[in-house]
Amino acid sequence: MIPASRPVDPDAANYHDTRTVNARPMEPDRRCRPQQPMFAMPEPASEPSSSHPDHPAARVTPRLLHAADPAPIRIRRLRPTDPIPEITALLHRAYAGQMAMGLRPLAGRQDDQTTQRRCTSGECYLAVVEREGRDEAIVGTILFHEVESAEGPPWFRHPHVDSFSQFAVDPGMQGAGIGCLLLDRVESRAKESGATELALSMAEPDEALRRFYERRGYRFIERWNWPYTNYTSVILSKPLHGR
Ligand SMILES: CC(C)(COP(=O)(O)OP(=O)(O)OC[C@H]1O[C@@H](n2cnc3c(N)ncnc32)[C@H](O)[C@@H]1OP(=O)(O)O)[C@@H](O)C(=O)NCCC(=O)NCCS
Repeated sequence: MIPASRPVDPDAANYHDTRTVNARPMEPDRRCRPQQPMFAMPEPASEPSSSHPDHPAARVTPRLLHAADPAPIRIRRLRPTDPIPEITALLHRAYAGQMAMGLRPLAGRQDDQTTQRRCTSGECYLAVVEREGRDEAIVGTILFHEVESAEGPPWFRHPHVDSFSQFAVDPGMQGAGIGCLLLDRVESRAKESGATELALSMAEPDEALRRFYERRGYRFIERWNWPYTNYTSVILSKPLHGR
């Protein structure tokens, strides 16, 4: 469990929008794509809230646009008006791959109430695309400093360690740098809040995901069994000095 004593966001209570973050990282991680991703947003599916992995919304591929006509990604805090069901559905679509592996990650099957509870226990960030003349589309999310009721791994209990969770990018938008933008944001927030390590918990069987984190500078710390999953998790952590 993350200690509740670490200051979370000094500027705002849960849910309030914080500073607008430039979607281009201030100090881009060299292991991420250097360019700000730009997309043409796919037309909304007829049932946008569907979380089924075969739903059309889970299969669309973003079309890269000419730089003169960008649809930039913006990272911002969750607002009270943001639609929790859309975030739940996004999580279900993103974690469908792990579910198909026979794993049962909480984010892959949680209900809206759980999404709401988790998002308000820490700082929830959204990656959004502004659609011309229309509302924003939520294409990714990450949760910094979740406070859980379940006992957490020993590494999470160290006062110099903070963590993130509930990390997802819509499957049709993955592999284009949005995940790295979200990671940049929580790594900056962890440093601002005084942590010297940023940790995460992930399903040990997902070896490709582990390689993604290792390329970002995360290393193995320990194994942990959460009470609500059916697999062993690995705790990875990254020292925050230097960037
Ligand atoms: C993990 C995740 C959030 C990353 O988001 P993303 O937008 O795809 O990440 P980026 O595009 O910034 O990733 C940068 C690189 O890592 C690769 N990568 C990202 N996720 C990967 C994964 N699960 N397995 C292997 N490689 C991955 C990308 O292909 C890209 O590689 P490239 O630059 O060589 O093409 C996203 O893949 C996702 O939602 N996965 C399912 C949910 C999940 O596993 N969440 C993490 C739980 S701990």
